[in-house]
Amino acid sequence: VSLRTISTMEKDKEIKEITGSQKQQLAKLIEEALKAAFPDVSDVQPLVAICNDPRHGDYQCNNAMSLWNKIKGKGTQFKGPQPVGKAIIENIPASEMIESSSIAGPGFVNIVLARQWIAKSLQKMLIDGIATWAPKLPVKRAVVDFSSPNIAKEMHVGHLRSTIIGDTLARMLEFSNVDVLRRNHVGDWGTQFGMLIESLFEEFPNWEAGSAPAIGDLEEFYKASKKRFDADADFKERAQKAVVSLQGGDEKYRMAWSQICEISRNEFQKVYGRLGVHLEEKGESFYNPYIPSVLELLNEKGLIQESEGARVIFIEGKKIPLIVVKRDGGYNYASTDLAALWYRLNEEKADWIIYVTDVGQREHFEMFFAAAKRAGWLPLNENDYPKTSHVGFGLVLGEDGKRFRTRSTDVVKLVDLLDEAKNRCKSALEERGKAKEWTAEELEQTAEAVGYGAVKYADLKNNRLTNYTFNFDQMLNDKGNTAVYLLYAHARICSIIRKSGKDIEELKKSGAIDLAHPDERTLGLHLLQFAEIVEEACTNLLPNLLCEYLYNISEDFTKFYTNCQVVGSAEETSRLLLCEATAVVMRKCFHLLGITPVYKI
Ligand code: ARG
Repeated sequence: VSLRTISTMEKDKEIKEITGSQKQQLAKLIEEALKAAFPDVSDVQPLVAICNDPRHGDYQCNNAMSLWNKIKGKGTQFKGPQPVGKAIIENIPASEMIESSSIAGPGFVNIVLARQWIAKSLQKMLIDGIATWAPKLPVKRAVVDFSSPNIAKEMHVGHLRSTIIGDTLARMLEFSNVDVLRRNHVGDWGTQFGMLIESLFEEFPNWEAGSAPAIGDLEEFYKASKKRFDADADFKERAQKAVVSLQGGDEKYRMAWSQICEISRNEFQKVYGRLGVHLEEKGESFYNPYIPSVLELLNEKGLIQESEGARVIFIEGKKIPLIVVKRDGGYNYASTDLAALWYRLNEEKADWIIYVTDVGQREHFEMFFAAAKRAGWLPLNENDYPKTSHVGFGLVLGEDGKRFRTRSTDVVKLVDLLDEAKNRCKSALEERGKAKEWTAEELEQTAEAVGYGAVKYADLKNNRLTNYTFNFDQMLNDKGNTAVYLLYAHARICSIIRKSGKDIEELKKSGAIDLAHPDERTLGLHLLQFAEIVEEACTNLLPNLLCEYLYNISEDFTKFYTNCQVVGSAEETSRLLLCEATAVVMRKCFHLLGITPVYKI
């Protein structure tokens, strides 16, 4: 079979030792140097960054200037930032990691890594598995609240973005050994259920026998109920009573509610199934029972006030307060989110809670995060844990520059969208004669991997805050920064290894990597930067950094492959191993982006 999923392909071997990223390892050496050279200066964090200009070094340490500012005028023997930098260099412990270090400008310490060390690290990874490269994050358990569509309302492109971005963040954190709770905060509670339940009773008298699925298109059902709700006063009254019965826990209403939810759930599941995304549903209804006591906690702290008949929390710097109990006494989106946050902090003991929604909801999140800070649930300092983060994203636009929709309807049916991507890929593969070369199953699986991967990658490669235009032709192009190009690039590397006729598992054990050619060294160095890119993408919640990295790696590989003969050369073993290391890193990137790699094209 040409297509194996990552889980069967490289089940991460038991992790012997996690070294942390290369940057973290380097930072440790610098930390020791700082302690040795400046034992009296406390509270200095090592500042290590990738060199802006690779001609000067691979990494640089930027501590000298700020250290100098700390110690100058206090009777220090040092005469300026340069000597401070020199002292740092002199105190870096001997390590096979570093080849040389030098001073530039006002005390920048440029560091060149040892070629042998890079080579050895790559070889070790090939044997022990890439999981040993996982970055170390200061978080034990994270909640990622993503996807979160609303029952009976459409799951629109915004929810698709949330699903794709949230899944990637969860995967990156999981890779970094964080315990991740993937939460689907489904909108399954609220007054709209009154009219839905009433319509169900009236239009499907046999609903209890399980005929509710006959509702078919739940969205249409929603629209029709809403129309009637707005036009028919009697119906409206019955609907409002239905809400009271539901919230009062009436068995029959609960059953009707759960049937309606079930229909939506099956629809949502079709999208999740196609995307290979796993989520655990804890909808708004789950937190509903916690709201009264959580609001009581806030009340005891004196946070809740009466305003125009509603109960609200005032937030510094905001003109409008956060409403937590509406004038009619009902709870709302914010009261649910406060209860959910309380639950996640206290019951689930999460130290990082991440919410993935469109930027339009930024204000809502800012407000209730601020309320939680006032309540003392969260530390005042943004960088301390437990921490909450809102991961906002922009709109998906159509060719006309307006909100993305299809010709016929207001909303895009997500399942149709994914099917179209897949079908287009299938046609492209057929055009290239693959239907004759491959089994029907191979064709199907490859079209799926490439089609869905293309949709995901087109979304993830942009900085999430910017709007992007949905364009099949662009995302399915096999040139440029697309999933198609990258998946094919990976498959090509696999084919180089296959065609060499060498047993790569054998080579891993017996062979060694050299990195004599500058293009080999560059590729090797960048492969080793994988963990710090994941770390940065996690810390800043920016999956596009990983996409950028993946694309750069494939460019580095092309350069290497153009300038260095692999098969049949004197360096064949080393270079085949470098090919394999590139393929392993690319596959891990695909995996973290939720994309299934292909092995042959
Ligand atoms: N259901 C909401 C929507 O469709 C998203 C929920 C996001 N999560 C949260 N905890 N507020 O807009």
